Amino acid sequence: MRNTENKKNPLKIQDNTFRDGHQSIYATRMRTEDMIPIAEEMDNCGFHAMEVWGGATFDTMHRFLDEDPWMRPKILKKYIKKTPFAMLLRGQNLVGYRHYADDVVRAFVDKACEIGIDVFRCFDALNDFRNMESCAERIKANGKQFQGALCYSLTDVRLGGEVYTVEYFVRKAKELEKMGADAICIKDMGGIMAPFDAYDLVTAIKKEIKLPLHLHSHYTSGMASMTYLKAIEAGVDVVDTCLAPFALRTSMPAIEPIVAALQGTERETGIDLNKILVLGDHLESIAPKYNTHLATHKLSIIDNGVLAHQIPGGMISNLTGQLKEMNALDRLPEIYKEVVQTRKDMGSPPLVTPVSQIIGAQAVLNVLFGRYVRVSNQLKDLALGLYGKTPMPIDAELTKKILKNYKRGQEPITGRPADHLEPEIEAAKKTMGDLARSDEDVLAYILYPVTMTKFLQKKYGVELPKEAEA
Ligand code: CO
Repeated sequence: MRNTENKKNPLKIQDNTFRDGHQSIYATRMRTEDMIPIAEEMDNCGFHAMEVWGGATFDTMHRFLDEDPWMRPKILKKYIKKTPFAMLLRGQNLVGYRHYADDVVRAFVDKACEIGIDVFRCFDALNDFRNMESCAERIKANGKQFQGALCYSLTDVRLGGEVYTVEYFVRKAKELEKMGADAICIKDMGGIMAPFDAYDLVTAIKKEIKLPLHLHSHYTSGMASMTYLKAIEAGVDVVDTCLAPFALRTSMPAIEPIVAALQGTERETGIDLNKILVLGDHLESIAPKYNTHLATHKLSIIDNGVLAHQIPGGMISNLTGQLKEMNALDRLPEIYKEVVQTRKDMGSPPLVTPVSQIIGAQAVLNVLFGRYVRVSNQLKDLALGLYGKTPMPIDAELTKKILKNYKRGQEPITGRPADHLEPEIEAAKKTMGDLARSDEDVLAYILYPVTMTKFLQKKYGVELPKEAEA
């Protein structure tokens, strides 16, 4: 790929250090104050975009860091004036864990645009894009970028099988294009995309669709740097990376070796290596503050287990926590197997928030109490179609068993899930009473009623309204 004919197709870089980087390495605990010292230099690097918000940041900021989640983009905008801000949005789940009504989704997107988000990477855990219709409409109406993401998933070690084929992802990418997407992203949250599959997939999508194509992968299995290189060869337009200290492990590939590796080729990034090399020093200097969140229980920085069972790292820590509580940590190997079966039973969905938590929790119940003897309400909702359409249908007999006597219904719905939800904003305002001082407070409360109540009480120094306490 050495550039001898002076052809140029520079690879663009999205920097994810301030969101997915510390979400992956430090359980999303990085404070805004620790971003500020390098914010201006980051802005001067020439990144295509910087991901600074969304995903788990909204949750951890108010729950653990005592920071107002709406403030981070506003503060960073003062230092980062040129580089567009990106966020990760879970479609109709926004930055929470359930489906919210359309009035909430619309108001949230409008507010996110107002506080400085320019690029919205939207995904749905089931790749059911009806769950992205409301946010897409508001993103476009605000003149911002709607980036549609495909959740990458497999039922085997490589692409193929009954669901996740090249054709499946090309078809899904075309759906996003039809919805008005400004760009497409392949989102490999589990870090399970193999290099040659990336080559085939990027080639196939680029052939059919003219939109810019992003690749987001995690280093978890150890393949991601190789995967990026093959995707770059196949013509991917943008890849997501982090500065070295916040890269690798379950995070993204590091930017520094990619910039170096592409120098002198037609995909040269145009990013000055010397500029980014010094930025990592700052992250090293703050590391002692955060290292309690770094997973150090294993010598290996990759999880070779994921190559076999494909259970993403975040999900494993959830499972381990749940089992510890139930005093059943010794059942973990059985649970790995059961996760695979439960996922298959539930129509082989991608394992990503919130579906990964639902499948994981049910697998634990199945192992401890017998298969589908105890069923969580979230799994019932999934079987009822309230999260959307699963990639494969769920067996009719099993659906009947799961939904027996369920108060929300026994007959699965087939329409758009949010059509079954009542508006939420006015009701929340009533419940909140004096605690609601702004639209931001109301939206945050709807997303996180319990923890946000505590946060707002502290912020305003007020007592909890009686109804909310009840
Ligand atoms: Co990610």
